[in-house]
Amino acid sequence: MKKKIIAANFKMNKTNRDIEEYFNTFVNNMNEFKGKGLFENIGLNSEAVFATPCTSLCESYKIIKPYGDFIKLSAQDIYFEKNGAYTGEISIDMIKDCGCEYAIVGHSERRRIFNETDETIAKKMSAVYSSEGVTPILCVGENKEVREKDMQYDFVKKQLKTDLEPLKTKSGKVYSLIIAYEPVWAIGTDLPIRPEDGDKMHRFIYDYVRSNYEVDELRIIYGGSVKESNIKELMDEPYINGVLVGGASLDPSVFLNIVRLSNA
Ligand code: PGA
Repeated sequence: MKKKIIAANFKMNKTNRDIEEYFNTFVNNMNEFKGKGLFENIGLNSEAVFATPCTSLCESYKIIKPYGDFIKLSAQDIYFEKNGAYTGEISIDMIKDCGCEYAIVGHSERRRIFNETDETIAKKMSAVYSSEGVTPILCVGENKEVREKDMQYDFVKKQLKTDLEPLKTKSGKVYSLIIAYEPVWAIGTDLPIRPEDGDKMHRFIYDYVRSNYEVDELRIIYGGSVKESNIKELMDEPYINGVLVGGASLDPSVFLNIVRLSNA
């Protein structure tokens, strides 16, 4: 069975000290839920993935290691070169060193604020697949203007076509891929997509990827104003295999409840 991915993106929030407190609360609450019989099979059905800032990945790993079957780490971004004179960047080997099993690639904030192009994102995807043991969480999604013109399917298809180019040229490897559909207009706005509209886009992405690439394990997760109040209806949709949560992941009790409700 495909495990659901319930991912937290901390973005540029939290120092190491904050993160230590965060995980202590998360794990204590998790044990409390377990004590009440509210958390029994969650670890079998899903993974809680934390994209902490890169300054905290190694520290986070030390804390979460005992819960490694259920709690995983992700980088928020990576650079495509292996090493060299690239001031400020981090490589795949560096994040693996800190226990990351996932890497977010092409988040809309990287695209919008840092001018990241689909061509750069394709190079990052290629770098992830040239290395073993890291699954990319590739983010795609349209902005408000595109949605208003009802061009979102063409837009997302165009992103995928370039971003997934590396999957066309490599063969004989096992490819695990997570795509996060994150409509830009829904991120941080309190305006999540209607679950049925989200499901429609997820299905479109699923069909496009399945008919054009050989991906062994494909999960499509949704991001954009996910909260305790809407997680259940989103997860009830057949093509929504998990979520990527920004703002609502910053409070450990809220995020744990999102994880719990995603399995309810
Ligand atoms: P949000 O962010 O949950 O705060 O809308 C989601 C994201 O940017 O991944």
